[in-house]
Amino acid sequence: MNIIDGKKFAENLRKKIAEEVEELKDRTGKVPGLAVVLVGNDPASQVYVANKAKQTKEVGMNSYEHVLTADTSQKDLLHIIKNLNANENVHGILVQLPLPKHISEDAVINAISPEKDVDGFHVVNRGRLITGQDALVPCTPLGCLMLLKDRLFNLEGLHAVVIGRSNIVGKPMAQLLLNEGCTVTVCHSKTKDIKSHTQKADIIVVAVGKPNMLEAEWIKEGATIIDVGINRVTVQAENSNESPTTKLVGDVNFNSCKEKAGGITPVPGGVGPMTIACLLSNTLKAFKAGN
Ligand code: GUN
Repeated sequence: MNIIDGKKFAENLRKKIAEEVEELKDRTGKVPGLAVVLVGNDPASQVYVANKAKQTKEVGMNSYEHVLTADTSQKDLLHIIKNLNANENVHGILVQLPLPKHISEDAVINAISPEKDVDGFHVVNRGRLITGQDALVPCTPLGCLMLLKDRLFNLEGLHAVVIGRSNIVGKPMAQLLLNEGCTVTVCHSKTKDIKSHTQKADIIVVAVGKPNMLEAEWIKEGATIIDVGINRVTVQAENSNESPTTKLVGDVNFNSCKEKAGGITPVPGGVGPMTIACLLSNTLKAFKAGN
């Protein structure tokens, strides 16, 4: 079966986390706590934050939600983070991005205590990842790596191509693959002839936000394809009397690549569910480091 079932993998991971939370509760009398801070009313962010809170509670952790209005000042937000850093019941802090324009994301992220930075976005955690030290690692690339290792076991010597160079996915993904012993090529919007790179790759991770950019012609027979894209596209109804609907598609043309690939993640049900599962895994890790 060449479909990589991220939904199933994430379910199993959450189950293991829930069991460990239960054990830790019995042993220490404490449970991990995750604080999520949302500034403003971006509808997509509201959905993510609600999902995070729901899944946090489902594994037996405490969830603390801070929903602030879009006109919240940077000073007030930094004050909330300072209090969360000092709060012993909070082991993980996540500030949902993007933030309103008047707030510096770097200033806010770097105000989070690195030990509680379950997004792995703090410069200390980024530096630790680059130097191969134990770190809290960004959730989406961590989820991609778990799926790759589950499928391929040992990544040493494989040629990996990462398409996208964002701080959230592309850059940490490339670093994680390098740490596993892959030869890593990072392609992006300025790369000439991306296809010439992907055609030689054993592993391709695509995180660009462009529906169907990766076609069968771009990949090598047997390559493992990880699709991070989540794009909402409009689908015209077959019957012109009906109004168009929308659906989620990835950055990979799944139907075109699925036979040729050795393994491929679908959208939805591939990388998406792994992100929150890895957030819970990072929260557990942060808890265990201090308890
Ligand atoms: N916005 C989109 N993805 C993420 C993420 O992984 N973490 C945070 N904090 N915000 C995001």
